[in-house]
Amino acid sequence: MQLKQFLGAALAVVAARAQDAPANLTSVLSGNQNLSSLVTLLQSVPDVAEALSGASNITLFAPSNDALNALNSSGVLSSGQEGLVQALLNYHVLIGQFTSENITETPAFPATLLNDTAYANVTGGQVVECRAEDDGVYVISGLKNNATVVEADLTFDGGVVHVIDSLLTIPPNVSTVAQEANLTALLGALNATELTEAVNTTPDLTIFAPNNAAFQDIASVLANISVEDAASVLQYHVINGTVAYSSTLTNGSVPTLGGGNITVTIIDGEVFVNRARVINSDILLSNGVLHVIDSVLSANDSSPANGTESDDEPANAYPGASSASDVPFTSGQPSPTSTNAALTSTTNAVAEGFPTNTGGTIGDNAAGNPEASSTGSEGAAPIQTGAIGAAALFGGAAIFANM
Ligand SMILES: *[C@@H]1O[C@H](CO)[C@@H](O)[C@H](O)[C@H]1NC(C)=O
Ligand SMILES: *[C@@H]1O[C@H](CO)[C@@H](O)[C@H](O)[C@H]1NC(C)=O
Ligand SMILES: *[C@@H]1O[C@H](CO)[C@@H](O)[C@H](O)[C@H]1NC(C)=O
Ligand SMILES: *[C@@H]1O[C@H](CO)[C@@H](O)[C@H](O)[C@H]1NC(C)=O
Ligand SMILES: *[C@@H]1O[C@H](CO)[C@@H](O)[C@H](O)[C@H]1NC(C)=O
Ligand SMILES: *[C@@H]1O[C@H](CO)[C@@H](O)[C@H](O)[C@H]1NC(C)=O
Ligand SMILES: *[C@@H]1O[C@H](CO)[C@@H](O)[C@H](O)[C@H]1NC(C)=O
Ligand SMILES: *[C@@H]1O[C@H](CO)[C@@H](O)[C@H](O)[C@H]1NC(C)=O
Ligand SMILES: *[C@@H]1O[C@H](CO)[C@@H](O)[C@H](O)[C@H]1NC(C)=O
Ligand SMILES: *[C@@H]1O[C@H](CO)[C@@H](O)[C@H](O)[C@H]1NC(C)=O
Ligand SMILES: *[C@@H]1O[C@H](CO)[C@@H](O)[C@H](O)[C@H]1NC(C)=O
Ligand SMILES: *[C@@H]1O[C@H](CO)[C@@H](O)[C@H](O)[C@H]1NC(C)=O
Repeated sequence: MQLKQFLGAALAVVAARAQDAPANLTSVLSGNQNLSSLVTLLQSVPDVAEALSGASNITLFAPSNDALNALNSSGVLSSGQEGLVQALLNYHVLIGQFTSENITETPAFPATLLNDTAYANVTGGQVVECRAEDDGVYVISGLKNNATVVEADLTFDGGVVHVIDSLLTIPPNVSTVAQEANLTALLGALNATELTEAVNTTPDLTIFAPNNAAFQDIASVLANISVEDAASVLQYHVINGTVAYSSTLTNGSVPTLGGGNITVTIIDGEVFVNRARVINSDILLSNGVLHVIDSVLSANDSSPANGTESDDEPANAYPGASSASDVPFTSGQPSPTSTNAALTSTTNAVAEGFPTNTGGTIGDNAAGNPEASSTGSEGAAPIQTGAIGAAALFGGAAIFANM
């Protein structure tokens, strides 16, 4: 082959490659009419823009113009809270490439880039819940805010973008969740035992939260309980050091902050902790996850569920306890001003679509084990592929002026 011919052929290959190469993030975002507000927002936070443009192996949930307009009108953007904007954007970025094919009916809880301890205390990064249903793909964030993917699988050289119809909510702390979820007895009990601060800020917790009716069912016991004993009871509902999402729960025994172990049992898509039933799962917290249960647990009775549990009559681990009309621990508490239906509704089928687990314990699963997940996310950390000036990517209003 003559040199000239050879060079010609080689150049043709290079040209073809350039044409096939996936677009970069800037061109994907600026090429989508529904993302012009996001492009403008990114221009205002050059550090984030630069990091995203240089990242590889990420998934960006890109809020549509409608979604971002809500943020614009909230005043957050003009309030000089750059840290909040940065945290919010980081919460929209998954570590790893999740195309719509990766998202199935089994909920997944992938980690995001949000690891700023002012906003999250989850080792490896705060998570979102992703799941596919018959009619679409949903991303569920703090307070069970449910965003819909309206345009999926826009690929770019660093990963994939999905356009969503509402902003994701950074998961708030236990106190806020308890208020919104109408868990006012728990809220009062935490305050009365001075555990509020600890449960709000200790990293990597799983909290099994009895609802008001559960506290009410054992009102006679709680009426005379000492502060110390009440604190032990509450701590028996908390797992320290493991964030166990529903899809990572498995049958097994696991130590609590209160000292004793609880027993998790999954029966036909229903999840039990001892004999209490999980009736609302996976409410994300700034420092972990909360699952609502229908009865108060007792370290003195950790016998597991065996499938004979009644739907309408929650188990009672306190023999001889009787109920009262007042909800314990709520006197002097402000009554909830807003209740969020996604947080107060209940279902038995919290584990629907989950694999039927056998053996193992909560901590065995990498996704539920902070140690494992922090190792995992180190390996999966977005790689900086180049220090590209953000201004070149998102700045320069002229580039966007004629769009
Ligand atoms: C991104 O792609 C566009 C269009 O192909 C190109 O003009 C721009 O230079 C690229 N930016 C970078 C940083 O590669
Ligand atoms: C991308 O992220 C996934 C999921 O976190 C990880 O399994 C994979 O190893 C990463 N790939 C690269 C090339 O970093
Ligand atoms: C998504 O699915 C593809 C194809 O099955 C797989 O190679 C990839 O690892 C998956 N990504 C993640 C983040 O699980
Ligand atoms: C947050 O993640 C970045 C990289 O993804 C890492 O450099 C940083 O140390 C992490 N910060 C915390 C507090 O974990
Ligand atoms: C995370 O933990 C630190 C240290 O305990 C605390 O100062 C911070 O407020 C916590 N963050 C959140 C969002 O609660
Ligand atoms: C999310 O909202 C859509 C309707 O907008 C609904 O069909 C879907 O079931 C919801 N998913 C979850 C998990 O709440
Ligand atoms: C833009 O996003 C909205 C949701 O915010 C969606 O209803 C609409 O279909 C999207 N438009 C396009 C062209 O994808
Ligand atoms: C909140 O809890 C109180 C006390 O148990 C109950 O009366 C009320 O109906 C609950 N509200 C909602 C929206 O669940
Ligand atoms: C929770 O676990 C961490 C280590 O995972 C430990 O440092 C901390 O002391 C524990 N907290 C309590 C209250 O036991
Ligand atoms: C508590 O659970 C741990 C971890 O599963 C286990 O090693 C330990 O034996 C259990 N303790 C009791 C008393 O069951
Ligand atoms: C199931 O558990 C309940 C409560 O611990 C017990 O009374 C009952 O005998 C058990 N049934 C079977 C079949 O093991
Ligand atoms: C919280 O507990 C303190 C005592 O530790 C008490 O003075 C205060 O009234 C309680 N607040 C609420 C809202 O219950």
